[in-house]
Amino acid sequence: MPKILDGATIASAIKREVAEEVRALSEHGVIPGLAAVLVGHVPASEIYVRSKVQACADLGLYSDLITPSDTVTTEEMLSLVAELNAREDIDGILIQLPLPAQVDAKALLDAVDPAKDVDGFHPVSAGRLMAGRPTLAPCTPAGVIEILKRSNIPIAGRHAVVVGRSDIVGKPVAMLLLHQNATVTICHSKTRDLGSITRQADILVAAIGRTGSITPEMVTPGATLIDVGINRLTTREEFDHFFKGDAKREAAFLKRGSVIVGDIHPKAFEISGAYTPVPGGVGLLTIAMLMSNTVRAAKMRRGL
Ligand SMILES: NC(=O)c1ccc[n+]([C@@H]2O[C@H](COP(=O)([O-])OP(=O)(O)OC[C@H]3O[C@@H](n4cnc5c(N)ncnc54)[C@H](OP(=O)(O)O)[C@@H]3O)[C@@H](O)[C@H]2O)c1
Repeated sequence: MPKILDGATIASAIKREVAEEVRALSEHGVIPGLAAVLVGHVPASEIYVRSKVQACADLGLYSDLITPSDTVTTEEMLSLVAELNAREDIDGILIQLPLPAQVDAKALLDAVDPAKDVDGFHPVSAGRLMAGRPTLAPCTPAGVIEILKRSNIPIAGRHAVVVGRSDIVGKPVAMLLLHQNATVTICHSKTRDLGSITRQADILVAAIGRTGSITPEMVTPGATLIDVGINRLTTREEFDHFFKGDAKREAAFLKRGSVIVGDIHPKAFEISGAYTPVPGGVGLLTIAMLMSNTVRAAKMRRGL
């Protein structure tokens, strides 16, 4: 039977550790603070940001939720970021993506003080990660490494294949795996004969954004499968294709009108050695790592 790498258990353990650090810092009069900037009314973003603010409250961090309207300009956002960069009570700045089309997202992310870049998206953070001296690594990739380490999955010397090369997931996760001494191959949409490469993986990380696209034939039995993908199935046909006969998911599908599936086909999990479920895997680590990064930023800024 494959081992299920349970994101909830691992995220809870990390959050407990963060809460402990926050308690210790409070004895020195330090309360780590996160500014969460949520522009407009994108329902998914509202849910994510609410969870992040709630996590701050649960773990004893200070948070400030700032909600500019969806007509905000790049200039207004830049002056907001400058204000947050200067604020002593703010250690981490989170700008929830996506932003409205009129806002230059890159200019904004570049304007965040790298010392407060808890999402790890600033070029300085990316450069430090590349150089093997990461300060604030992107949260989802950092969560992937925590899952592997805390589940005692060996990384050093193993062949890790990462499918996806985004700045947010694929590239940083590949770099973090390299720093853990994996032999890393990065694949993308122009990769030829993807299956011949994914079959070589001891650890296969899928960050593609395409529903169930890593099929069982693309996986070597016993491999560790890390599924970063979050895709929503909304039609009966799609549901039956992936989950026909799964009574529990069917009940959820009928209740909510949709279910989540990753980038790895659920049938591939059955032949793996270990895998992260979707939902309940990597996704749960992202907020835990954001909290961890905020505390780290608070300590770094004070030389603690
Ligand atoms: N908290 C979380 O758990 C979390 C966080 C972030 C993202 N996600 C999820 O992770 C997935 C990836 O996110 P992302 O932001 O990295 O997406 P992205 O920016 O769209 O990048 C997707 C990557 O997959 C590659 N790709 C697309 N089709 C492919 C194919 N047929 N074969 C091989 N590679 C292919 C693309 O290649 P090219 O570069 O050649 O176009 C690209 O590098 C999404 O499902 C997203 O929802 C989850």
